[in-house]
Amino acid sequence: MRDDHGPPLIAPRLLAWYDRHARVLPWRVPPGSDAVPDPYRVWLSEVMLQQTTVAAVKGYFERFTARWPEVAALAAAEDAEVMAAWAGLGYYARARNMLKCARIVAARGGFPRDRAGLQALPGIGPYTAAAIAAIAFGARETVVDGNVERVMARLFAVRTPLPAAKPELVALAGRLTPDARPGDYAQAVMDLGATVCTPRAPACGICPLAGACAARAAGIAAELPAKAPKTAKPVRHGVVYVARRADGALLLERRPPQGLLGGMLGWPGGEWREAAAEAAPPLGAQWRPAGAEARHTFTHFHLRLTVMAADVPLAAIPARGAFMPAAEFDTGALPTVMRKVWAIARSALDVGDRG
Ligand code: ADE
Repeated sequence: MRDDHGPPLIAPRLLAWYDRHARVLPWRVPPGSDAVPDPYRVWLSEVMLQQTTVAAVKGYFERFTARWPEVAALAAAEDAEVMAAWAGLGYYARARNMLKCARIVAARGGFPRDRAGLQALPGIGPYTAAAIAAIAFGARETVVDGNVERVMARLFAVRTPLPAAKPELVALAGRLTPDARPGDYAQAVMDLGATVCTPRAPACGICPLAGACAARAAGIAAELPAKAPKTAKPVRHGVVYVARRADGALLLERRPPQGLLGGMLGWPGGEWREAAAEAAPPLGAQWRPAGAEARHTFTHFHLRLTVMAADVPLAAIPARGAFMPAAEFDTGALPTVMRKVWAIARSALDVGDRG
């Protein structure tokens, strides 16, 4: 049965649900606790959660906050250390902006407390600024991520496909945001979207808002939000060279600071293009194909990398990159696509050892 307690009752119901069912997350102050959220932890979590799932972020968040417990500590860290600790989270421009932001905040003695001040910092867009203002500083700001869009589309049965529906969903979310506990409210909508109002099979039977949900009443909850058809991603090709020196050192190169994987370590190679890949090797050697392609999908394209491998003598002098001693080499410091390349190259080099 659909009840008629429209928008006015939604926030209190959702907050009451959150009080009982909030996910326990390492950056959160649990509802009802007297603890005050730490703006540094809130900021760090929101930056990490941009484009990345809670499950993927948790471990990184714990390691970062153990190693750099406050913003001044992070601000004082070496760029390469921070990039290595971020490796595997993806979207590396976030890490570079995070570090810039930490340095500005440390120099000014703390985070700005309002949305506009936050949004003026590197790496903080409208979404993240609203989230930090609401969660860390209790400002009445509306926080709209993908979860929130889905909840609003269903609650009000908005049939317009995304992304065209965005402004309407933002307006609806704004109308529901309460004056009290805006940070808990924002996280309550996120949690509802992540655990109950899920994309494919929403658990309407246990939803605290089921009685007020227009999509549920119309029997179309699972079909919303509608999405405009996606265009197929293009495929780009590249070549990478993995050189292992006789002492086990590996030839790596830091990528330029701008652009994809900017500032990260990787294997030397060429441009990634839609045409067939080619690139000059970083040194003369008996290069052999490692036998498998490394495949990785980025936001806007699929990448296929041809992996070339060679064992080279101690005296080898590379035209690019630098040899990293085996004892310092840590796959954890590489972005995911470069880890995949290493897995392929290593088996080829090990087979070479045996053959
Ligand atoms: N996604 C982005 N921010 C979040 C938060 N504070 N809690 C849970 N999921 C989130």
